[in-house]
Amino acid sequence: MKELILSSKQIDEITTKLASKFNDLYMNKDVVPVFICVLKGAAPFMHDLIKKCNFPLIIDYVQVSSYSGTESTGVIHLKKDLSENIENKEVIIIEDIIDTGTTLKYLKNYLNITYKPKDIKICCLVDKKPLRKVDLEPDYVGLVLNEAKFLVGYGFDYDELERNTPYVFVPSEDQIDKWNKILKK
Ligand code: IMP
Ligand code: MG
Repeated sequence: MKELILSSKQIDEITTKLASKFNDLYMNKDVVPVFICVLKGAAPFMHDLIKKCNFPLIIDYVQVSSYSGTESTGVIHLKKDLSENIENKEVIIIEDIIDTGTTLKYLKNYLNITYKPKDIKICCLVDKKPLRKVDLEPDYVGLVLNEAKFLVGYGFDYDELERNTPYVFVPSEDQIDKWNKILKK
């Protein structure tokens, strides 16, 4: 049996709540923040979120990878860099999930050193808080998950599968076996 973690309705409530925080911060302000989506996982989350933001903003994308299957490889690569110059800009990194925190710590450092933005804030859909290994706290969080569960759906993938599912769940062992067959593992 799969275990539902976030239904479509709960995801909708989370994006509404987070967008209203950003609306309070940026509506009628003379600032155009840059929302940076961490590909590929955060794409559904960011695209739902920005539709509810009622102020001028710019979006951009980076891709960082460190995971293979359900395990972190611990090695981080920047696969795709920004296309906008964020020097002196207010930046909000939109991430699907923070686990050990290694990926975002690397990304935040990289962006700070390379582009010198005015400020970087972090917004994530799910925070696996107990698994943190580095000193990094998100500024905006959808859900704090206190157990070490591997999630799929709504951007979260099992070797690239399931990103299109409109809710977040923990797959059953049977389901993982089926995906492994599809993936010829
Ligand atoms: P961290 O560097 O350990 O914080 O890992 C963060 C990255 O690992 C995220 O950007 C996700 O892409 C991926 N990740 C972590 N946990 C999960 C999960 O439960 N399902 C799918 N991807 C995950
Ligand atoms: Mg990710």
